[in-house]
Amino acid sequence: MSARLLPGRDPAAIAEAAAVLLRGGLVAFPTETVYGLGANAFEPRAVARVFEAKARPSFDPLIVHLADAAGLEQVASAADPRVRPLAERFWPGPLTLVLPRRPGIPDIVTAGLETVGVRVPAHPVALALLRAAATPVAAPSANPFGYVSPTTAEHVIDRLGDAVEIVLDGGPCPVGVESTILSLAGPPLILRPGGVPREELEAALGCPLPVAPPSDRPTAPGQLLAHYATHTPLRILAGRPAPRPPAGSARVALLAFRPAEVEGYAAVEVLADDGSFATAAANLFAALRRLDAAGVDLILAEPCGETGLGHAIMDRLRRAAAAGRP
Ligand code: TXA
Ligand code: MG
Repeated sequence: MSARLLPGRDPAAIAEAAAVLLRGGLVAFPTETVYGLGANAFEPRAVARVFEAKARPSFDPLIVHLADAAGLEQVASAADPRVRPLAERFWPGPLTLVLPRRPGIPDIVTAGLETVGVRVPAHPVALALLRAAATPVAAPSANPFGYVSPTTAEHVIDRLGDAVEIVLDGGPCPVGVESTILSLAGPPLILRPGGVPREELEAALGCPLPVAPPSDRPTAPGQLLAHYATHTPLRILAGRPAPRPPAGSARVALLAFRPAEVEGYAAVEVLADDGSFATAAANLFAALRRLDAAGVDLILAEPCGETGLGHAIMDRLRRAAAAGRP
């Protein structure tokens, strides 16, 4: 099977994609963060095909996507008084809440956990699909397990084109890094930094929020130390890039945060012409994929500050850098 690429703004394409979901097929769709690989959350066999397509370990739970917060009760318990205000403030948007699950949600979605991750994505194509299908949609990022997440429809076709029936094209994802995952199943804890800055969540909840450290025995595989990785080894620089690559080194690519006067690198990507975290986040995964395809031996990445979206950017770079190490 090879995927059909359909325009996400076309109502006929949305109707067709919704029908595919309802008969147990897979649809890749854009969200504001990254493209998702969706299956009907109440169809365990369809969800199993998502794991198969991604070669994803079955212990890894999926995020359930909803058309609106009213759908929450179908999949999770929203009894916690913190849920409503967070949903009102941040949904639709790049925040995933981990909450106690409802019994009806299949085990394969939650990987057998007593909790479920849920979010309402802020993308017109995703919302149109969720409304048309009228069912919660379980969707991980639409990339092979461990690889860089997709931020364009072409990224999805490149790596998963054989595994999905329809890819809805919504252009490049505006946020560019995945949702922030906040667990409210116990004491509030950020399981993965992402599109909603920690500072905004702390302000909304009125308490400091610890961030779960990356580990090799995570409760969420997004916490895996080596994840979001290029095949090419990646190293994070201590500061601004040197004007030239290290003498005598093999072919080296540069991932610069802001514009830099450099020469001699085999490839250069600048994440933020304007120096902003938002621009850098939106460009991050596409730039990593281009450098990974440039045939170099090493990618050197310039670090950025760790406030706001900078936290998620540095988190993804550190995990990519960890992947090549023993
Ligand atoms: O922005 C996003 O969140 C994108 C778009 C498509 O919505 N999705 C995404 O999904 O990044 P995925 O599967 O690539 O990453 C979801 C992370 C995984 O690390 C998973 O382990 C964690 O969320 N997760 C899901 N449900 C969980 C739960 N009940 N408890 C803890 N972690 C959970
Ligand atoms: Mg992922």
